[in-house]
Amino acid sequence: METRINEIADGIYRLSTFVPEIAAPAGFTFNQFLVLGAEPLLFHTGYRQMFPLVHAAVSRLIQPERLRWITFGHYEADECGAMNDWLAVAPRAEVAHGATGCLVSLNDMAARAPRVLSDGAALDLGNGKRVRYLDTPHIPHGWEAGVLFEETSGTLLCGDLFTQVGDGAALTRSDIVGPAIATEDFFRFSSLNPGMGPTIRRLAQLAPHTLALMHGPSFAGDGAAALRALADDYDSRVRAAFTDAGIAAFDPGAPAVAA
Ligand SMILES: [Fe+2]
Ligand SMILES: [Fe+2]
Repeated sequence: METRINEIADGIYRLSTFVPEIAAPAGFTFNQFLVLGAEPLLFHTGYRQMFPLVHAAVSRLIQPERLRWITFGHYEADECGAMNDWLAVAPRAEVAHGATGCLVSLNDMAARAPRVLSDGAALDLGNGKRVRYLDTPHIPHGWEAGVLFEETSGTLLCGDLFTQVGDGAALTRSDIVGPAIATEDFFRFSSLNPGMGPTIRRLAQLAPHTLALMHGPSFAGDGAAALRALADDYDSRVRAAFTDAGIAAFDPGAPAVAA
C-alpha cells in the first residue's frame, strides 16, 4: 500500500491510501487532509495500523512533531484510530472535537484531554487558514458526528458524506452524488433519520467550492448543489422507511410536534 499526496485546495493536502480488498473489486480509499496553517491541522488520522503510512506522508509536507490539531468526523477506527500515536509524536498537538464526542468517548480514549468545540466554533490556524466546526449528529452516522469547514478556501471536510467506492482522481469536477447514492445502496452505512435533510442543507448554505471526501475523490464545483441533492436523496430514503414502517406522513420541513 502507498499513500498518495495531492493538494486539493490552497494549502489543503489529501493523503490517500487505496485498499483494493475492501469493497472488491472496486476497492476503497481512506483519505486524511492536512491543512497547512501556522498551526497544522489533520482531519482524520487513519487506522492505527495505517499510522506508519500516514506519518510518512505527513513527513513529506511538514515535520510531524509540528502538528497542532488532530480532528475527525466521528469516533471510528478509520477516522481516529491513530489519534494517540499522533499525540505521542506531536507534543503540542491537541485532539479537537464537538462536545458529544468529547463527553462520550474522547475524554476517556484520548491520551491527552481534548479541546471541546461547540457547534459553530472556529479555530484560527494562522497563515490565512481558519476552520469552523459544525455538529451533524447521526449524519451520516455517529451521535458525535461533525464536519469542518475551512473558510478561506471554501473547503468542506465532509468526512463520510458522499462516500463512494473505487479509486478515481484526487480531484474531480464530475458528479459525486450518483456514486454516493450507489454506495449507500451497497453499504447502507447511513443512520437514516429525519434530521438528515435539514442538517445537510445547512451545510449547503456554506456554499463550499471544494468537498473533501474521506472515501472518494475531492470535488471541485458547486458544493451547495451537490449537498442539496444528497439531502434530497436522504429525505426520500427516510420517507420510504417511514412508509415501510406504516407511518403515513413524513415532512422533513414540518415541526416535530404538530400544534
Ligand atoms: Fe464512519
Ligand atoms: Fe470513514
